[in-house]
Amino acid sequence: MTAPYSDELTARFGYDLYLGGEAENNAWIKQVLLRRTHRRYADRPVPESIIRLILAAAFSASSKSDFQQASVIEVNDREQRDKLAALLPDMPQISLAPVFFVFLGDARRLERMSKHPVRNGALEGFFNATVDAALALQTATLAAETLGLGTCPISVLRNHVEAVGDILALPEKVFPVAGLCLGYPAQPGFISMRLPPEATVHRDRYDDNAVAAVAAYDRRRDARHSLKDRQKSPEIFGTAEFYGWSEDKARQAMTPEGTGFAEWLRARGFDLTK
Ligand SMILES: Cc1cc2nc3c(=O)[nH]c(=O)nc-3n(C[C@H](O)[C@H](O)[C@H](O)COP(=O)(O)O)c2cc1C
Repeated sequence: MTAPYSDELTARFGYDLYLGGEAENNAWIKQVLLRRTHRRYADRPVPESIIRLILAAAFSASSKSDFQQASVIEVNDREQRDKLAALLPDMPQISLAPVFFVFLGDARRLERMSKHPVRNGALEGFFNATVDAALALQTATLAAETLGLGTCPISVLRNHVEAVGDILALPEKVFPVAGLCLGYPAQPGFISMRLPPEATVHRDRYDDNAVAAVAAYDRRRDARHSLKDRQKSPEIFGTAEFYGWSEDKARQAMTPEGTGFAEWLRARGFDLTK
């Protein structure tokens, strides 16, 4: 008899993790282990009640100090959606998804609702609002997946933050964390293998050698889904004999992203040096 999570753990990590004893067999945890981003959606509307329920779940996420610094914009208007989609032509899901949200860090509300001279534009305010918005985004994702929908976050919106800010009329101290496409999946999608616990889970203190586990992960991931023929920027980095996840991500990280974001934030009331 196989252990309860054997298939799901193998699907997620490329091998059956040792859980260290009997873990209760739970259908929802299995669904989380098998979760995946969906970028194509069926031509099937999402009922309004489901949208309301997903957002209610999203705003049930925990919140730093109960400050509740997440907000969301539902982009229903076709013209508004098209303006955003036009910024990112290689992400057609922004236009095609039945539902599109933009999750915002909202460091503004705390200042506006107060009779006191609250100043929330330092790094702490920015960071707390970012974390709150990210938690709401992920809770929306899990809620949607639980209801049979698929989602795709869109953080590349921030590469066009000036235009996005104008289109969505974002005031000072309100900033986009990520968009979220939602719809019923048009295809099964695939599970993206994750780093093993040896690389990500440290015991009692940080172990700088944990990174050594990435090499075997690269091989496992390559055996399932090779990137060999999709090497990024070979004209700069050359063609690698073995092209694994770590090489792919290093090349990606060498290409600057979101370069105008810091300046945009500064112009909108944030001083992240404090
Ligand atoms: C904050 C955040 C931003 C993301 N932004 C984008 C994006 O702009 N475009 C996109 O296609 N996917 C985006 N994704 C999806 C990731 O690419 C995806 O989660 C990752 O490849 C792992 O795949 P999985 O979610 O299927 O496991 C984003 C995910 C997160 C958490």
